[in-house]
Amino acid sequence: NTSNHVRIVEVGARDGLQNEKTLLPAAVKIALIDRLSSTGLQTIEATSFVSPAWVPQLADAAEVYAGIRKLPGVSYPVLVPNLTGYQRAREVGATHIAVFTAASEAFNRRNINASIDESIERFVPVMEQARADGVQVRGYVSTVLGCPYQGEVPVADVVRVARRMHELGCGEISLGDTIGTGTPAKARAMLHAVAQEVPMAALAVHFHDTYGQALANILACLEEGVRVVDSAVSGTGGCPYAKGATGNVASEDVVYMLHGMGIETGIDLDLLIATGAWLAAQLHKDTASRVTRARTAA
Ligand code: HMG
Ligand code: MG
Repeated sequence: NTSNHVRIVEVGARDGLQNEKTLLPAAVKIALIDRLSSTGLQTIEATSFVSPAWVPQLADAAEVYAGIRKLPGVSYPVLVPNLTGYQRAREVGATHIAVFTAASEAFNRRNINASIDESIERFVPVMEQARADGVQVRGYVSTVLGCPYQGEVPVADVVRVARRMHELGCGEISLGDTIGTGTPAKARAMLHAVAQEVPMAALAVHFHDTYGQALANILACLEEGVRVVDSAVSGTGGCPYAKGATGNVASEDVVYMLHGMGIETGIDLDLLIATGAWLAAQLHKDTASRVTRARTAA
């Protein structure tokens, strides 16, 4: 793939917030997404229609989704674990959803209380309904480069789950390094193996920066041909059911790297930096974006 454009999937309002202990008001989440919409991002994950007992921070999913300004040309996907979540998402008009499972049995059990096969069985009616409703579906495969409970995850397991989700009708498959243990050669080999079964154009990469490897891993995957990258503004994020998981790679840092390489994103980096700094202030945290720190230090 020689395309000079990378699409960033901004997951800060979902992955970024789901692990935050202090509950943010819905109005702040809406303001975050509206600010992100003005940066030129094409895809902004908005929230999750999961069980509020499992992820209390996103219990306001309906209010947030209903409250955001939906710009034409921008999609606002939401996570959906089952038919209940799908129906809640549709009630407020969601047109793009994401289903999620993992390459590791142990992680899946803790995250969604199901085995891999059971979770895929749960998606079948969701996918059928989505097809009937014209709803686009992304599929996440977590723990593609390591599991907090199982340790090593065989690449063959990643390939099997990704292929199954693609066969079921997921138009895009995001490969998640949930705990950030991956390193570039392994990331590249994993992507290469998956791309033998699922077209590269349907793949995305999703790196958490727990071990400081995310940008290097993204570069390795770009060289392998991927053109969709997930990231979170200000480097927020983490899965509450992955012990030790920390933030996603910061969107600002990914965009800075891409623009520096002459790759287009359509994103205004200055606006993104301002949004990340604003979010960090809302969370009373220092930003995890190195670019934002460098730019705001002067
Ligand atoms: P369960 O307890 O097995 O579900 O949880 P259940 O079907 O037995 O239902 C239990 C109760 O929850 C019932 O209510 C249901 O109605 C309710 P009760 O009868 O007890 O009053 N319920 C719901 N309520 C609202 N919305 C729903 C819903 N579903 C059931 N959708 C379940 C199973 C999947 C629901 C639960 O485990 C769950 O919600 N898990 C979500 C965990 C999560 O959100 N994790 C983070 C996202 S994944 C991630 O971060 C990784 C990613 O970033 C990629 C990467 O980094 O690798 C994507
Ligand atoms: Mg994640």
